Amino acid sequence: MAAIGFDVYGTLVDPLDMERHLRALLGGQAGPFAARWREKQLEYTFRRGLMRNYLPFDRCTAQALRATIRALGAEMSEADQARLLAQYRELPPFPDALPSIARLKAAGHTVVAFSNGVEATVRALLDHAGILPVLDGVISVDDLRTFKPDPAVYIYLARRVNQPIAETWLVSGNPFDVIGAKTVGLRAAWVRRNPDAVFDPWGIEPDCVVTNLDAFADQMAADFDMST
Ligand code: LAC
Repeated sequence: MAAIGFDVYGTLVDPLDMERHLRALLGGQAGPFAARWREKQLEYTFRRGLMRNYLPFDRCTAQALRATIRALGAEMSEADQARLLAQYRELPPFPDALPSIARLKAAGHTVVAFSNGVEATVRALLDHAGILPVLDGVISVDDLRTFKPDPAVYIYLARRVNQPIAETWLVSGNPFDVIGAKTVGLRAAWVRRNPDAVFDPWGIEPDCVVTNLDAFADQMAADFDMST
């Protein structure tokens, strides 16, 4: 049986769902705002990782919100910003997340969340999403004070689930995360929820590409069936 680390934002819960909350404030600008906020949040983690100037993910998210407001010239009160950040802590799950993780766990796999998010925030988020009870654990890069795709975080995931690196899986909707895991020697699945999503042409490929987590659970069931 395998140990499987599930990325959180963009894999189990949908950060772009913030568009729904932004619509009342920004109208037609809500979609581009949500996408840019997410991109800026990730950019800040990459930069802070390189600079070795760590700040918890929640703070990166808040700073990215401010940057996006400035970049798009949006009007937003402090109270609106605080409300958006609270809503970010209650992002909705993708509908396939809970049933597929429950299936993988029932099949005997170890299933954990593995995120840039700080552990307390991720636990509350996944509890709200109904996913926390089926997980075997929540592992945060915050323990190492660095971010994905620092190689150290993927090695840490394997160590925490007590498996050899080559038998530890990362399942992620984020191509940079998949490439980070593969570079260290983990197995990795790319969840390509959006058919228009592009995988970086770095010559490093995922072990499997699936359209959602149900398809990943199917694939694992087939693989383990063949190996027994
Ligand atoms: C995470 C970010 C990468 O959950 O989405 O780790």
